[in-house]
Amino acid sequence: MSRYDEIKYEIYHSPKVWLITGVAGFIGSNLLEALLKLNQRVVGLDNFSTGHQRNLDEVRSAVSSEQWGQFFLVNGDIRNIDDCRKAMVFAGDDNLPVNFVLHQAALGSVPRSINDPVATNSTNIDGFLNMLVAAKDAKVNSFTYAASSSTYGDHPALPKVEGNIGKPLSPYAVTKYVNELYAEVFSSTYGFHSIGLRYFNVFGKRQDPNGAYAAVIPKWTAAMINGEEVFINGDGETSRDFCFVENAVQANILAACADTDAKNNVYNVAVGDRMTLNQLFTSIKQALSRVGVETHSALVYRDFRAGDVRHSQASIEKARALLGYTPHFNVNAGLTDSVEWYISFFARS
Ligand SMILES: NC(=O)c1ccc[n+]([C@@H]2O[C@H](COP(=O)([O-])OP(=O)(O)OC[C@H]3O[C@@H](n4cnc5c(N)ncnc54)[C@H](O)[C@@H]3O)[C@@H](O)[C@H]2O)c1
Repeated sequence: MSRYDEIKYEIYHSPKVWLITGVAGFIGSNLLEALLKLNQRVVGLDNFSTGHQRNLDEVRSAVSSEQWGQFFLVNGDIRNIDDCRKAMVFAGDDNLPVNFVLHQAALGSVPRSINDPVATNSTNIDGFLNMLVAAKDAKVNSFTYAASSSTYGDHPALPKVEGNIGKPLSPYAVTKYVNELYAEVFSSTYGFHSIGLRYFNVFGKRQDPNGAYAAVIPKWTAAMINGEEVFINGDGETSRDFCFVENAVQANILAACADTDAKNNVYNVAVGDRMTLNQLFTSIKQALSRVGVETHSALVYRDFRAGDVRHSQASIEKARALLGYTPHFNVNAGLTDSVEWYISFFARS
């Protein structure tokens, strides 16, 4: 039995209370679905700035009515510490205290942070600090937060190893690095130990395909399904370690339940491989073909984008050794699952 299977077995038989911030977003709603299916109680906190009610509706239809009854939503903002404190209790039957926090709420996107650094700063740093204080005061068992591979900045080494980071290349990267610094200081000053998960280009169902700040996989999949041109920033040889969302779900559940020795640490969450954007274009096309959709979108090259890292590939050895993380999905398996979801999403909308 893998460590992940063991933990799922344990929590299924002894359910816990979880708080997911950013629950109406892409990763948050996937975490919600996984935890409700494991019969957990979940508090969700979201202000719906980039998340959607439709994501919660979809989770509702994927779980039983009993499981949905174990979800309690706080419609609030992490920039308001009272909302953070309110979310530390499952205000259902017995006002149960939250055991495990999975802090996902943030304003993502490097370009958004370049266009509006103040907004990104206030959610990602002020909001993060509020969450740390509220979680510490509520004496939760564990605090796991969404860090980012952008923290590697201009460090050229590949694969990326947690201890070797460079200078940040965007305001977004600054905010995610500051999260790590605060987490460490809360460990040394208050003995409040958390775990940061440095996600590397997570993708999968419910990742928003719309809007100026959509990520590459949903944006391209949408364009290909709708027969539009696909724009590539730069020469297409930029590479990324694309990580299917189920791997990120696994990492969160492992981190939340990790031993004390594994805490006060950051971990890469990825597959440990890399794919260029040119290869990604072909892979999405093939994934669509596997599910019966032939596409003829043209690839259009344009300028490199400010703030983008050229190459990214993780070492996942630390997460493997200390958390028992083993990604079960490679990129192609994840793409097949994702494109099926986007096809039905566009058929519905
Ligand atoms: N998706 C990726 O590839 C990736 C990579 C690295 C890091 N991350 C981090 O993972 C986390 C989740 O990202 P995602 O891709 O699911 O993004 P998302 O935009 O889909 O989800 C973020 C959620 O947070 C909510 N939110 C934003 N500001 C809030 C606020 N002030 N108060 C309460 N809720 C707020 C949004 O409404 C949304 O539901 C973020 O912290 C992001 O920075 C994601």
